[in-house]
Amino acid sequence: MAIERTLSILKPDATTRNITGKINAIFEENGFRIIAQRRVLLTRSETERFYIIHKERPFYKDLCDFMSSAPVVVQVLEGENAILKNRAIMGATNPEEAAPGTIRALFGLSIDQNTVHGSDSAATAAQEIAFFFKETDIVG
Ligand code: CMP
Repeated sequence: MAIERTLSILKPDATTRNITGKINAIFEENGFRIIAQRRVLLTRSETERFYIIHKERPFYKDLCDFMSSAPVVVQVLEGENAILKNRAIMGATNPEEAAPGTIRALFGLSIDQNTVHGSDSAATAAQEIAFFFKETDIVG
């Protein structure tokens, strides 16, 4: 299987509850390497651009409000099959539907405050990583 990189975000509900270390431990226990990481308070317009694909969805405004409400941790995870594997470790978007033991089942508060974001395909991962990181910021 191929070594891949995926973009992960620890959302405001993770930073405000001070559980970013616990989540990073789960990533590392599952074999990922965190090869870039930055804590940042996103502006409203940055969140709008990052989530532009959801622009027409009814939850877009609440999503952008939430993601710019407090700091997030943006990070690049590297590992075998990282994109799909991270989605499995995160669990379903809605924490109520997330499998036991997944990050969203353990920590998610609601479909909006669902603790983590992870890229959903190779194309998205490349785009999302480039949104936050220069190649020289990523040390594999
Ligand atoms: P995320 O993986 O960051 O991608 C978009 C986010 O929108 C998603 O996680 C959820 O937190 C949020 N969201 C709110 N309502 C919905 C919905 N009905 N379907 C998908 N995502 C939603």
